[in-house]
Amino acid sequence: MTILILGSGGREHTFAWKIARSPLCKQLYVAPGNSGTSQMAENININVTDFTAIKDLVLDKKIGMLVVGPEDPLVQGIHDFFLNDEELKNVSVIGPQKAASQLEGSKEFAKIFMLRHSIPTATYKSFTKDNVEEGFLFLETLKPPFVLKADGLAEGKGVLILNDLNEAKKELKLMLVDAKFGEASTKVVIEEFLEGIELSVFVLTDGKHYKILPTAKDYKRIGEGDTGLNTGGMGAISPVPFADEILMKKIEERVVKPTIKGLQKDNLPYKGFVFIGLIIVNNNPFVIEYNVRMGDPETEVVLPLLKNDLVEIFKAISEERLNDIDIEINNQTAATVMLVSGGYPKTYLKGKEISGIENIKDSLIFHAGAKLENGKVVTSGGRVMAITSFGKTHQEAIKKSYQSIEKLHFDKMYYRKDIGFDL
Ligand code: AMP
Ligand code: GLY
Repeated sequence: MTILILGSGGREHTFAWKIARSPLCKQLYVAPGNSGTSQMAENININVTDFTAIKDLVLDKKIGMLVVGPEDPLVQGIHDFFLNDEELKNVSVIGPQKAASQLEGSKEFAKIFMLRHSIPTATYKSFTKDNVEEGFLFLETLKPPFVLKADGLAEGKGVLILNDLNEAKKELKLMLVDAKFGEASTKVVIEEFLEGIELSVFVLTDGKHYKILPTAKDYKRIGEGDTGLNTGGMGAISPVPFADEILMKKIEERVVKPTIKGLQKDNLPYKGFVFIGLIIVNNNPFVIEYNVRMGDPETEVVLPLLKNDLVEIFKAISEERLNDIDIEINNQTAATVMLVSGGYPKTYLKGKEISGIENIKDSLIFHAGAKLENGKVVTSGGRVMAITSFGKTHQEAIKKSYQSIEKLHFDKMYYRKDIGFDL
């Protein structure tokens, strides 16, 4: 089969690395891809939301399966675009249709879905600029810290956590009245702050059946000890040691099953990954977000632990027979450390040559913001590459990644030296 992956990050390099190992994959394309994906696939320079260009490519290369990495094309309805097109409707698309993608595309939609299906989550109310005064009153009824969430997609920046009531009111006004996050903050969800430990669970579904993949924890802040600005993710480990059998059983019964059943009851077709962000409060799971895709850098630790042929799984999803698949997981721990350009997540320089890649023997390197220029790998984004290693324990895996990083270099390279510090 000829397969096309959409996206250009570490997540998509990991997908390409895994898919390229499948005997079912005859030819692999990535759009737009990066210097990592060009090792095992042909990169095609088109934008992930340019549906017309994607259609032309799919017809030209006789692509049989489309794997969608990021959320934007899903929320914009790429799966529906394929289903509604006579020439594309037989192409398998991995990623939910537009209606179900609202689980990530609208925080309020996700909240109403969880309420309807009795899935545990923080209590909330949502507001628009027409009732901003009621929003102020609602804030007064809550205890700090205050959690404000822009309803729509805001590149991972739409959640604000504020300790001061006046600050929270000011930000609420900025979001609703002054469009701080543009369209995304025309509606704001205000919710109860949950005190606990975060954990992400990844579920594969064909809409009828589901399989749970290894858990992961990512490190979102730029600074050591989880300080400073939020980033796309500075590192991750999988599985998470505190996610024992008892907790996983609760998560499956209280969150995963009602989510999959809820999708069916609400007639929301879903073929793809469900990324469930949880906060564990007193050993009980609460959902803080759904994403309709895999995480980045969580993919860089979860997929390397999967022993199965990923294309076989995707075929089963597409044919709604995921129940036929037995998921097999490597019983090691995987850890990844993200190398970023100095200055990220604010401004940073690009075009810096990355050296030492050929010396890495004990880790996997997944390229993210990196591209080929005159035969050299150079930086092209904030998050540059993820260095993944395995170990019997997470400490061992993390140590291996740090040893590999010693051999890598680019100007103003930065990374967190404390991934896993809290475990
Ligand atoms: P999100 O963009 O939904 O992943 O939220 C970003 C981060 O905000 C999460 O990773 C949590 O650390 C935090 N967060 C979101 N909702 C809550 C909540 N209700 N209580 C405490 N922390 C939260
Ligand atoms: N690493 C968090 C995310 O992919 O949303």
